[in-house]
Amino acid sequence: MVWLVSAGPGDPELLTLKAARLLAQADVVLFDDLASGPVLDHAGPQAQLIAVGKRAGRPSAKQDAVNALILSHARAGQQVVRLKSGDSGIFGRLEEEIQALTRAGIPFQIVPGVTSASAAAAAMGMPLTRRLTARRVQFVTGADVTGGLPGDINWAALADPAVTTVVFMGQRSFPALARGLIAHGLPPDTPALLAEAVGHPGQRMLPGTVAGLAAMLERDGPASVPGLILYGPLALPGGNGSGTPATP
Ligand SMILES: C[S@@+](CC[C@H](N)C(=O)[O-])C[C@H]1O[C@@H](n2cnc3c(N)ncnc32)[C@H](O)[C@@H]1O
Repeated sequence: MVWLVSAGPGDPELLTLKAARLLAQADVVLFDDLASGPVLDHAGPQAQLIAVGKRAGRPSAKQDAVNALILSHARAGQQVVRLKSGDSGIFGRLEEEIQALTRAGIPFQIVPGVTSASAAAAAMGMPLTRRLTARRVQFVTGADVTGGLPGDINWAALADPAVTTVVFMGQRSFPALARGLIAHGLPPDTPALLAEAVGHPGQRMLPGTVAGLAAMLERDGPASVPGLILYGPLALPGGNGSGTPATP
């Protein structure tokens, strides 16, 4: 059995009880960069901890090599935990690992978890949906396999002002995304939030507007920590989101 376990955004208190139990029992834990740190303290002393990090801009283990490692430990009869950040089913390349396990005839179970999108909204003190103004939430990626903005963006959906949009892996491409959104009718003063290192000691919340955040990222470039961008009719505490990005 291979357990495909979600680690949550980084704060170990946001691990599920099931994830903590499986970590404590595991013989081997294969973890991503973003699923490291204090969450790994839940692994037992017997556990072999193997980093298979995949982080933008840094060399990383290729997916095939990760799949091969999972299979070889499982075939050796070990209790394998494959630990992935946030919720493993969201932009986590879970499907490739499921396919490899299925082809090899190795049973697996998925343990869901707290996605960084929910954790970012909670850290900012706001909901992801609003009864009257945000009746839909969409999770999108700001980077395709090339690392750039995907070429087949559904602009009508992404520029819909009545939706909360959460952009994963999008700090680098957000200036280009924002230009496209505004060209497709999204008001430049639409509330936006850059949520960096959610659930980690360096957590930083930068509320502002779509145009303001894009200008800041264009000027300063992306930080070296993971970040999410949320935009739409956000219920940013203390305002309508038209202020300058600032640390709360
Ligand atoms: C490969 S995706 C994995 C997403 C993950 N499965 C989830 O549900 O949060 C990695 C991206 O998720 C976002 N992310 C993951 N953890 C984060 C955190 N703790 N703080 C801010 N963004 C995070 C960033 O956009 C990062 O580039």
